[in-house]
Amino acid sequence: MKITNEKFLKIYNQETEKIELLISNLFKNKKPKSLYEPCSYLLSGGGKRLRPFLVLISAKASGGNFKEVYNAAIGIELLHNFTLAHDDIMDNSDLRRGRLTLHKKYDVNTAILAGDNLIAIAYKLLLMDSKKNIKQIIETFTNGIIEVCEGQSLDKEFELKENVTINEYKTMIYKKTAALAEMSCAIGSLIVNSNKKNIKAVSDFGKYLGMAFQIQDDLLDITADQEKFGKKIGSDLIEGKKTFLFLTALKNAKDQNDISLLNNVILNKGIKKEEVDMYKNLYEKLGVLKAAKKEIEKYTKLALRSLDTLPNNEGKELMIHLANSLINRYK
Ligand code: IPE
Ligand code: IPE
Ligand code: MG
Ligand code: MG
Ligand code: MG
Repeated sequence: MKITNEKFLKIYNQETEKIELLISNLFKNKKPKSLYEPCSYLLSGGGKRLRPFLVLISAKASGGNFKEVYNAAIGIELLHNFTLAHDDIMDNSDLRRGRLTLHKKYDVNTAILAGDNLIAIAYKLLLMDSKKNIKQIIETFTNGIIEVCEGQSLDKEFELKENVTINEYKTMIYKKTAALAEMSCAIGSLIVNSNKKNIKAVSDFGKYLGMAFQIQDDLLDITADQEKFGKKIGSDLIEGKKTFLFLTALKNAKDQNDISLLNNVILNKGIKKEEVDMYKNLYEKLGVLKAAKKEIEKYTKLALRSLDTLPNNEGKELMIHLANSLINRYK
């Protein structure tokens, strides 16, 4: 039974609205305000709610129902928001989801503590839905957090490292981003007590989708419309990040002038914001934007292929639609 794109969007909108409501109820009337107001600010900024949606559709694709995994799903969204709050401190970012980042709206201490609290609440929510496989669920969730920390550490390390290879970059984005998408899918499948084959299929889907997702985030960092993207354009270059775009530019550059422009990013550990447009033109000239799109398509195909072994059902259809729709995302 195939579902249409309209049906997919309807389900996505319905479910993300439900997720919004569940999240907004979490912090109502909670004290101290100095802790819960910032948590609420962070979580009320919108966001695509991709990870909780992955939990839901993985549960369904694995033979279960959405209602078995809502708490786990919002728990994972809280965990994701914790990573964003701390990431924005680490990346010196002022803008997220079109608003001030948490540490800019309040201060760094507040943003650190809000993040800590969110991890703890995430565990509570996860436990609410965990009836079987509890040990495996907690282990999977915890390993996901460790991967994110390792990935974030590599991301910062690479800002200062002169020779970062594409393979090192891929390990880094697997850890900082893809592992959390992989974990979201695994958790959905584990909670509904699915079999090993299904757990592996949805986890691989999440992993490859996560790889595509981070390369696309790198691409949007330079090509998106700031209003829609909600984050400052060019911030990866400003911070001297070794993104897929930057490493591909280094690989493709032959002209001495282009090479020295790229080497300047490494030597100066970033560029000035006035230089972003110039580097965007350079990326275009070097075929970097095209190469990134190809890489995103490659990982999306791998994600889709991972679903081959799953039984055909609505959950699997939703996963296919999600992967195909993310290729055209603008935020
Ligand atoms: C941002 O994640 C961090 C990355 C891993 C690129 P999202 O792009 O999913 O952020 P929101 O939750 O939709 O704002
Ligand atoms: C996201 O990497 C990784 C995590 C938040 C763990 P980025 O630093 O590229 O994410 P954005 O672009 O700030 O959302
Ligand atoms: Mg970062
Ligand atoms: Mg960042
Ligand atoms: Mg980014």
